[in-house]
Amino acid sequence: MRQSSLVVVANRLPIDDSVALDGACEWRRSPGGLVSALHPLLRHTPATWVGWAGGTGPAPALPDVDGVRMQSVPLTTDDLRDHYEGFANATLWPIYHDAVEQPEHHRRWWDAYQRVNQRFAEATAKVAETGAVVWVQDYHLQLVPGLLRALRPDLRIGFFLHVPFPPPELFMQLPRRAELLRGMLGADLVGFQRAQAAHNFAQLATKVLGLPATDRRIAFDGRMVRIGAFPVSIDTAEMSALAGRPEVVDRARRLRHDLGSPDQVILSVDRMDYTKGIEQRLKAYSELLEGGHVKVRDTVLVQVAVPSRERVGQYQILRERVEREVGRINGEFGRVGEPAIHYLTQPFDRAELAALYRVADVMAVTPLRDGMNLVAKEYVAARVDDAGALLLSEFAGAAAELPQAYLVNPHDLEGLKQALLAALRAEPADVRARMRAMRDHLREHDIHAWARSYLSALDQSGSLLTRLG
Ligand code: UDP
Ligand code: G6P
Repeated sequence: MRQSSLVVVANRLPIDDSVALDGACEWRRSPGGLVSALHPLLRHTPATWVGWAGGTGPAPALPDVDGVRMQSVPLTTDDLRDHYEGFANATLWPIYHDAVEQPEHHRRWWDAYQRVNQRFAEATAKVAETGAVVWVQDYHLQLVPGLLRALRPDLRIGFFLHVPFPPPELFMQLPRRAELLRGMLGADLVGFQRAQAAHNFAQLATKVLGLPATDRRIAFDGRMVRIGAFPVSIDTAEMSALAGRPEVVDRARRLRHDLGSPDQVILSVDRMDYTKGIEQRLKAYSELLEGGHVKVRDTVLVQVAVPSRERVGQYQILRERVEREVGRINGEFGRVGEPAIHYLTQPFDRAELAALYRVADVMAVTPLRDGMNLVAKEYVAARVDDAGALLLSEFAGAAAELPQAYLVNPHDLEGLKQALLAALRAEPADVRARMRAMRDHLREHDIHAWARSYLSALDQSGSLLTRLG
């Protein structure tokens, strides 16, 4: 087996199997922020990416993707149900996102979580060179750092959580909270999106495990585990270059025409997820139409909502509710050839997304809770013309870095309506000044800066055996 000095471990590989129109299996880039962040980073690096290729059954042998080796880990139908759909996405995901939906607890799900984490750790141990750096990603694999350290104490192990890490009162609900914390503490460096998350983790290490901890380091098992905030980002230069390409500019022009050449276009791009605040946004828009503040002939809303985790009950219910509401709003306010909402569920590639971003006068990113939200950053990167207003939830990690956005509390319906109107009616000079400031920030704080800061911190941590100071 080929071995690498850098191994990334994530539940998802950057490619996913999908069935082409002719029935053949083909590979496509898998959607979601984790893949968007890591894919440009690793391209042409002699690294191995260990992950799941979608589907069930034996692990497929995969081609290298842009020079990166793909090591697939197989999941059975039971693993898929109990690990991915169960413990990861119906227990941890809701708890980590403020319990906006009720988390479920089943002992069978925990067994599957342990089993799948063990399989990932074993697959990783096989492909890591002696002394390699292993970078474990996200909430599906929180036990992997500890399991991997037991198998391969020679490795330097990092863990990064892409989603929020909740306050103790929520995390404490987890029946297996101690095991989850110990698993993460198997890493040399545990990274979060926000400083508050690192603080929550340190508090829990003391509360649950009785460990001495500060917001920067935790003494565990004779080692010093470093913790910290590393806000993830995007390949800003790549998105800006894509959005400036003549064919993308041309596509944006045609899209605007196809939308009926309205005065203003509002755009939202989400996975169909209850954390994204889609229903609240639709309600605000509907009330603005009802109150006559917004007219269908002048303003259109384009809502991209890519289906996600489709076998999980809460996601099915959300999709039904969203589609019912879109139907109601279009029925009530649309006209022939002029729907109030252009509702799209197919995933778009980057060029089409860049064109959509360039069409959007207002980009509405209003999650109830989000670790970061890369769509918001992509929109800013795509506005090479310095135009476009970003309406951004205070509860997205991105809000801490982009305070010049039109910030909003998506739980406050009246506030959401007012903020949407403010963004629609803002003076072009104000919009431009805000956009310029956000672009300046993202030019510097891109995905490469993120990786540099994380990996240099991980390097230091390998030699850290000092006491808490
Ligand atoms: N995305 C995509 N095609 C789509 C919709 C979304 O490629 O049709 C990408 C989007 O560009 C972004 C990612 O999916 O990079 C979503 O990341 P984000 O952090 O906004 O949210 P997540 O889905 O990870 O919760
Ligand atoms: C979020 C998670 C990722 C996940 C992505 C897409 O960004 O942090 O780990 O890959 O959503 O979700 P999915 O369930 O399709 O992998």
